[in-house]
Amino acid sequence: MRALRANTFGPPGDVLELVVTPSLQPGPGQAVVDVEAASLNFADILFCQGKYQVRPEPPFTPGLEVAGTVSAIGEDADSSLLGRRVVAMTVPPHGAFAEQAMVDAALAVTFPDSMPAVAATAMFVSYQTSWVALHARGRLADGETLLVHAGAGGVGSAAIQLGVAAGARVIATAGGADKVARCLALGAEIGIDYRHDDFVTIVNEATDGRGADVIYDPVGGEVFDRSRKCVAWEGRILIIGFASGTIPSAPMNHALVKNYSIIGVHWGGYGQRQPGIIQEAQNALADLHAEGAITPVVDGVVDLEGVVDGLDRLANRATTGRVVLQP
Ligand SMILES: NC(=O)c1ccc[n+]([C@@H]2O[C@H](COP(=O)([O-])OP(=O)(O)OC[C@H]3O[C@@H](n4cnc5c(N)ncnc54)[C@H](OP(=O)(O)O)[C@@H]3O)[C@@H](O)[C@H]2O)c1
Repeated sequence: MRALRANTFGPPGDVLELVVTPSLQPGPGQAVVDVEAASLNFADILFCQGKYQVRPEPPFTPGLEVAGTVSAIGEDADSSLLGRRVVAMTVPPHGAFAEQAMVDAALAVTFPDSMPAVAATAMFVSYQTSWVALHARGRLADGETLLVHAGAGGVGSAAIQLGVAAGARVIATAGGADKVARCLALGAEIGIDYRHDDFVTIVNEATDGRGADVIYDPVGGEVFDRSRKCVAWEGRILIIGFASGTIPSAPMNHALVKNYSIIGVHWGGYGQRQPGIIQEAQNALADLHAEGAITPVVDGVVDLEGVVDGLDRLANRATTGRVVLQP
């Protein structure tokens, strides 16, 4: 099979070469996936450079997530997966930028034949994270107001679509007119350019002073601090990430007096602890996709020869939506 392979750490364009290697053989508990599609992530660039949280010994193939068909399973792996289409995170050193990738069979979730693999991988981490946040953690209900920060970003745009699909009234913030327009196109009722307008004032006015029932925060820092000023009684602030680079602290007396919850969301942690939720989310996402209620934004599809260029575009923030490999 063909694979992009790095023999040392460095920028993808310097270290990745296309090689022909023997087919993968699964170890205990593992499954080999024939790659149909694989999203490119910013983390893949860090992975190549040896700067990611997982640092494999070279040689290795990058590609953190994969969608495809299980073609071989190892000892102790669920044999019913053979021939099934799955989406999963990959196991180093056999990442997804290849014709075959390795996954942990217990952490692979199935998706239906009706769903294109490009959609399955484009929706995997961002839509899974947002579904688990809004439903398993946030208990978002029909008719509630959802405030999504960084609504044009990866997880934020998924949260807008999933909030609308759940019957919520969605307000989104983003930096700049183009990004606000994207939030509105994704279904937000109100889009706020936080560089020019104060989201606290607008959210409170739009909810007659009540505030947002659920606040989805992938930004942290001052955005979290300001969010506490427009969260509703019995509201839930979902802590998704800290894209601002600042991890905020919360005064607990404020949470007590205003009677709201601050809820951590760690999607990656569900794989080991409650993998059933990941399959439940995947089934819900496949249904919503089939109904046309959610559509992942795909910037472009590349082949193995185009991966380095795709990663360069990611690094330069020149993409809108996911770039996906089809080898
Ligand atoms: N909890 C989980 O399980 C989980 C899962 C996946 C991702 N995450 C986290 O969620 C966060 C967002 O991920 P993503 O994939 O949506 O990223 P992304 O597509 O790059 O979007 C992040 C957005 O944050 C906003 N932002 C505000 N301040 C920023 C800054 N100083 N630098 C960069 N962006 C800034 C930007 O939107 P504006 O320009 O509109 O401000 C940007 O588009 C990350 O911190 C990620 O680690 C968490």
